[in-house]
Amino acid sequence: MELVAVGSTDLDRATRGRLRALWDLAFDGRFGDDDESHAYGGVHVVAWSGPDLVAHASAVPRRIRFDRTWHGVGYVEAVATHPDHQGRGVGRATMQRLQVEIAEHWPVAMLSTGATTGFYERLGWERWRGTSYTRSPAGTVADGEHDGLMILRLDPALVPDLGVDVTCEDRPGDAW
Ligand SMILES: CC(C)(COP(=O)(O)OP(=O)(O)OC[C@H]1O[C@@H](n2cnc3c(N)ncnc32)[C@H](O)[C@@H]1OP(=O)(O)O)[C@@H](O)C(=O)NCCC(=O)NCCS
Repeated sequence: MELVAVGSTDLDRATRGRLRALWDLAFDGRFGDDDESHAYGGVHVVAWSGPDLVAHASAVPRRIRFDRTWHGVGYVEAVATHPDHQGRGVGRATMQRLQVEIAEHWPVAMLSTGATTGFYERLGWERWRGTSYTRSPAGTVADGEHDGLMILRLDPALVPDLGVDVTCEDRPGDAW
């Protein structure tokens, strides 16, 4: 298996099409156009097995407020392993490579997940314990996302308390 780190601007149309096919398959039809657009604008790690694209993970820049202070973070999106290749360490290797990229760019990373917290905990991620909010032009509202929020602290001093309020800026589709 070969892991390739590449910026969004260097991903050609054919690879983007193959990525969408991977997401549609891995997320079983629950991956929409907004999810796809959230995956772009940063750095990707793409796993290849010969000619086959078998896994992906990306991190994009976002501003997140921890308690009262906004920070630039790497936000992880569109993590997926092709169903035929799951359970063999491909997802872990892809995330480990992405986390090298993240460490070069950001002091912390975040993501939102459902049932896969265990996968990320094995990679050093921690569950968020505070309440989550979304900020939009209409105001800042509690959004109930916090059960699925996780953080990777490359610099633990930046976010010492995982129990404070955390706020993201709204965007089309899922805010977190
Ligand atoms: C989640 C996903 C990316 C994992 O990829 P994978 O290549 O099968 O994972 P790996 O084989 O590298 O597993 C690494 C470890 O995580 C564990 N793990 C894998 N999937 C897991 C899950 N859904 N929940 C908890 N732990 C999981 C594995 O058991 C393994 O543990 P080990 O180190 O004790 O052996 C893959 O199942 C997938 O594409 N799922 C559908 C899309 C999805 O849910 N993406 C994540 C959205 S946030």
